[in-house]
Amino acid sequence: MNFQLKNGMLLGAASAATQIEGGDQNNNWYAWYRQGYIKDGADPSVATDHYNRWREDLALMRDMGVQCCRMGVEWSRIEPRDGVFDEAAIAHYREEIQALSDAGIPVLLTLHHFNNPLWLEERGGFAERDNITCYLRFVRKMVESVGDLVSEYITINEPNVYAFNAYLAGAWPPGRKSFLEMGRVMTNMAAAHIEAYGLIRKTRLQMGFRNTRVGVANHLRAFAPKDAGNPLHRFWAERAEELFQGSLTQAMCMGKVSFPIGKHPSIVPGRYCDFHGVNYYTRSTVSGPADGVAKNCPVNDLGWEIYPQGIVEVCEKVYGMLKRPIYITENGTCDNEDRFRARYIAEHLKALSESSLPVERYYHWCFCDNWEWVEGGSARFGLVHVDYENQKRTVKRSGEFYRRMIQAGGVDEALYGEFCDTPYPTNGEDA
Ligand code: BGC
Repeated sequence: MNFQLKNGMLLGAASAATQIEGGDQNNNWYAWYRQGYIKDGADPSVATDHYNRWREDLALMRDMGVQCCRMGVEWSRIEPRDGVFDEAAIAHYREEIQALSDAGIPVLLTLHHFNNPLWLEERGGFAERDNITCYLRFVRKMVESVGDLVSEYITINEPNVYAFNAYLAGAWPPGRKSFLEMGRVMTNMAAAHIEAYGLIRKTRLQMGFRNTRVGVANHLRAFAPKDAGNPLHRFWAERAEELFQGSLTQAMCMGKVSFPIGKHPSIVPGRYCDFHGVNYYTRSTVSGPADGVAKNCPVNDLGWEIYPQGIVEVCEKVYGMLKRPIYITENGTCDNEDRFRARYIAEHLKALSESSLPVERYYHWCFCDNWEWVEGGSARFGLVHVDYENQKRTVKRSGEFYRRMIQAGGVDEALYGEFCDTPYPTNGEDA
């Protein structure tokens, strides 16, 4: 294995406020934890204590040579009560963002990442159309507060995963199991994104800045029929792709309405993304209405197929929509012992670098191991190991690989041999 990183692509790391910060109990996920839904009982109000340790984490990022960073802000911390903003929390984020930018690490800021303040959750969250105005008020406040430091924004992280897990599968707060509600949440999130897109650009313009970039971090999977010769399998693979990601992505980027997205006055044809944000992890192999994983394929520690070429397949599709620059806003893998993460990174970056796609950013998910929603502390995705007993950080071998790869601008046989020459686990599971 041998490749040069794509010219002009910055390599960074991504995180979400709830998964790292700790210290906030005023949100839907803390309530979910209190109800006993986190597999290993890990407490999100502890997480990796990044809120207090961000300077240490920044120093580690600098040592690793990270070139850009995607981070989130916690709405429930910033607006603990309806319409009441905590200026000290905002000042905290300003200080952190300023320090990152002083270190030469520009920030891509996520405004919503699966987490709602309790007061919003109690009045129906994104299932209620009227609540979009609350989200927009928060967005305006954030951009007015940090807009001089941040030019790039993600309005909403993975609205499809959020709507699916929280409103159809019942696995995330508020634990609903209704297809109708899932569609309503997707619709409201698409409308919220479209309105936020205009609002962020307008607010920054009023502040005198013209170089704003706004997008969504879409969770995009590669989908394949289990048996490509079987028309039923092909049918279900296409339906699954549409339902899970296709319709929503088209609504958000282009204002196109198609099932399961409903009508909303803000969802009208237009162009609502300055970059295509892509979170890519895996491929689904489909033979019916349910999701599946192919048999005898490489998988990570959560059983997700490892399929590097898929990152190019999903980027090509989304790029076809608006032909905007591509930001890989997340890519990474659950590898609890850090056996194959370096190989995973190398293979995904090779596929991207050898494609003709205009990929401008790659944000690895994630920097430090973190609090993985319902998986709690049991699923490790980080380049840096966190000992949850004492919050001690230790750079993993994959973190050292990332540093060396960034420094070298690519991977040669020697680097690959030293870090990546380990087999992936395989499964025996059927699709
Ligand atoms: C989410 C992250 C999550 C990651 C790994 C993505 O779907 O945006 O918050 O930690 O996947 O599960």
